[in-house]
Amino acid sequence: SRGLLADALGRPLHDLRISVTDRCNFRCSYCMPKEVFDKSHSFLKHSELLSFEEITRLARIFVAQGVQKIRLTGGEPLLRKNIERLIEMLAGLRTPEGQALDLTLTTNGSLLARKASALKAAGLQRITVSLDAMDDTIFRRMNDVDFPVAEVLEGIAAAEGAGLSPIKVNMVVKRGVNEQEILPMARHFHGRGVTLRFIEYMDVGATNGWRMDEVLPSREVLALLRQEFSLQPLQASAPGETAERWAHADGGGEIGLISSVTQAFCGDCNRARLSTEGRLYLCLFAHAGHDLRGLLRNGAEDDAIAGTLASIWSARSDRYSQLRASGTALPGEARKVEMHYIGG
Ligand code: GTP
Ligand code: 5AD
Ligand code: SF4
Ligand code: SF4
Repeated sequence: SRGLLADALGRPLHDLRISVTDRCNFRCSYCMPKEVFDKSHSFLKHSELLSFEEITRLARIFVAQGVQKIRLTGGEPLLRKNIERLIEMLAGLRTPEGQALDLTLTTNGSLLARKASALKAAGLQRITVSLDAMDDTIFRRMNDVDFPVAEVLEGIAAAEGAGLSPIKVNMVVKRGVNEQEILPMARHFHGRGVTLRFIEYMDVGATNGWRMDEVLPSREVLALLRQEFSLQPLQASAPGETAERWAHADGGGEIGLISSVTQAFCGDCNRARLSTEGRLYLCLFAHAGHDLRGLLRNGAEDDAIAGTLASIWSARSDRYSQLRASGTALPGEARKVEMHYIGG
């Protein structure tokens, strides 16, 4: 899978993560803490959002430049009205080689029981559900809107029933908050054809009050899992992948470790992010994005937009997690883009 563009560190452009709304019905403390995202917070107005036509036009240009995977994110992407229509439009895109895209979506699962079959019918292939605990009390506390875990599990079952495959579950692990859920989560998804991935709690945004002592390093997660399960390392399925993969030796599926804090994976990071209002971010931890909506709304031709994209990507040297790990000073730390806005 050759990329057409390479950045300043030689990394191709392969994934485009598109945030379709900055709103969410959950208030996970590590992402949209209630104290900050309350009634006084102003979310984007509808006119500020990229329309489906604008998103699809940009996506087509990105695909012509080498993007092969598109992931819809939010906030909570299933809150965007008629999201199925956008999926239909994106499912129609083809790479220069004539291939369909790897088209997927990351959701909190709260609306999935209702929407899974419509998403599949619209052309979504697979889905990833964020779920931080099996224990109902801990889960309700973590989403901070008292949402019951049973409804998310119903959503996952509906996704399976609809044929969305493979299904992945993302668990953000916070030391002292949900680490006791690691084994119950692993037991639940073992042998069910769902890949469970443990994510190190990251210092995204400026509102979650991140502290290193709340990070449970993936090595510790793995050691804990290996007390109960026999796991074998797997090869990466694609270059630049976020997760280190492990297989259950008994054939009960696989698990993943996403270790952005303790083992940065910037070296071959091939992901671009498009915000809800059409800004292009070159890193999850970027301070500023490049405005593409202005180009669209000022009548720029596709070729001009493609040229702008190529020059932005060619100049990219972002590698925040690597710099953080090496202790390099990071200026303007407090103004990082927020997770609910850029979609993780
Ligand atoms: P797959 O295509 O299924 O492998 O998905 P993915 O891991 O690329 O995307 P997903 O939305 O499931 O992200 C999983 C976790 O990794 C989330 O917590 C993301 O915020 C985080 N993540 C994804 N991409 C990056 C990245 O480029 N840098 C960092 N630091 N974290 C990332
Ligand atoms: N650290 C790690 N992962 C996070 N996510 C949201 N905030 C954080 C954070 N601070 C995860 C969500 C979702 C994915 C897109 O990002 O749980 O799975
Ligand atoms: Fe919503 Fe996901 Fe953020 Fe939780 S992590 S508040 S579900 S966008
Ligand atoms: Fe890519 Fe930035 Fe994440 Fe590194 S920190 S992997 S450059 S998005």
